[in-house]
Amino acid sequence: MKIAMLGSGFIARFYADSLVGQRRKDTLHTVYSRTSDKAEKFAKDYNLPYHTTSMAEAIEHPEVDVVVIALSNDLHLAAVEACAKAGKHVLCTKPLGRTGEEAKKMLALVEEAGIMGGYLEDLCYTPKFLKSLDSIKAGSLGRILWAKSRETHPGPHSDWFWNKEKSGGGAIVDLGCHCIEISRNFIGKDIKPVEVMCWAATQVHPIDAEDNAIGMVKYANGAIGQFEVSWCFRGGMDLRDEVMGTEGTIWLNNFMRTGFEMFTTGKGGTYVAEKAESNSGWLFPVGDEIHELGYSHMFTDMFEAIEGMREPSETFYDGYVVNSIIDAAYRSAKSGIWEPVQLDAWRGRTDVTEAHAFASYDEDFHLIKEEILPNGEKKLILKHKKTGEVVRRDL
Ligand SMILES: NC(=O)c1ccc[n+]([C@@H]2O[C@H](COP(=O)([O-])OP(=O)(O)OC[C@H]3O[C@@H](n4cnc5c(N)ncnc54)[C@H](O)[C@@H]3O)[C@@H](O)[C@H]2O)c1
Repeated sequence: MKIAMLGSGFIARFYADSLVGQRRKDTLHTVYSRTSDKAEKFAKDYNLPYHTTSMAEAIEHPEVDVVVIALSNDLHLAAVEACAKAGKHVLCTKPLGRTGEEAKKMLALVEEAGIMGGYLEDLCYTPKFLKSLDSIKAGSLGRILWAKSRETHPGPHSDWFWNKEKSGGGAIVDLGCHCIEISRNFIGKDIKPVEVMCWAATQVHPIDAEDNAIGMVKYANGAIGQFEVSWCFRGGMDLRDEVMGTEGTIWLNNFMRTGFEMFTTGKGGTYVAEKAESNSGWLFPVGDEIHELGYSHMFTDMFEAIEGMREPSETFYDGYVVNSIIDAAYRSAKSGIWEPVQLDAWRGRTDVTEAHAFASYDEDFHLIKEEILPNGEKKLILKHKKTGEVVRRDL
């Protein structure tokens, strides 16, 4: 497939590094950037035959099969409109929209045009994430009760992120979109997100949006997805997930503690990793950022989905659900109460209620707890099924 890249900034280069970094049959054909020197430089750096300062020209180029949107958040909708008009498959970076309303329009546009809308949520494609998801789907963690995802760093690299009009918000819309989709996957994408409680504040930067937030998303089966996001965190980019189930636990540290630790006085002074704040002292480099951040698996899934005429793992519908959860988080941060997630079109299960599965010990008792004490004795705590009495039994 031949690809048009819209945008030539930070993420466009990460995407291009992923697309041209290793042998791949899909090729970058053209780049759109609003300034010709940037378009030209990008085309030269990645060896593209064509570059343009016209978005329509890039999308409509007859050789282009699929368009990648790597533009600021305020331009995603217009770019999707142009792709739908041209009948070109479109892969859009996160967040899909600035609001659920925008995301819903984008979803409708791709579905009405009969093109594929892939949601480029790379953190749902990291090797650690994919393996964790396989284990969870196989039942290794039992019923998922709580999934927490954290993304914090010292703040984004371009002016438009800090402008609420252009970005749609602060750390919640920028980083929370990743965390929410990670938890959604672990809890089950067919389980409806019901309501959100969120605290958000502007603690450090002179901006209209939040630079720090914590939120809880309650799902129809009673599970909680928690997100922790910040543009105030010092020390690099902290990407961590925790999943807790009735049969097990997973802890993932995706970025700063990958098992690669290094000390340098600063001689050499090279790039360490995204958002690293220092290149001297003890450092935590990331071996292959493109791969460890999920970009390679993500593009493979997207192109295979187009070829196989199937949906990718992350779709525009997922982007719409994430935006709707974010909308509820912003409402809750204002109101201070749980706010419902407003989804016009829920496509998952509708038969789910809060799960309470208590372990049975025998005909009369439920098992509350079983423990071996330091002296080797085994103790059981049981609850009578009819009377409710809690008793201890030593074995
Ligand atoms: N992990 C990820 O998936 C990830 C990481 C970073 C950014 N992003 C997303 O990628 C998108 C771009 O972010 P970035 O970090 O590359 O930002 P950036 O500022 O580095 O690049 C933005 C691009 O948009 C272009 N642009 C901005 N305003 C424009 C305008 N008015 N008209 C035409 N072009 C304009 C810029 O020229 C540039 O090419 C955002 O939606 C962001 O949320 C995703």
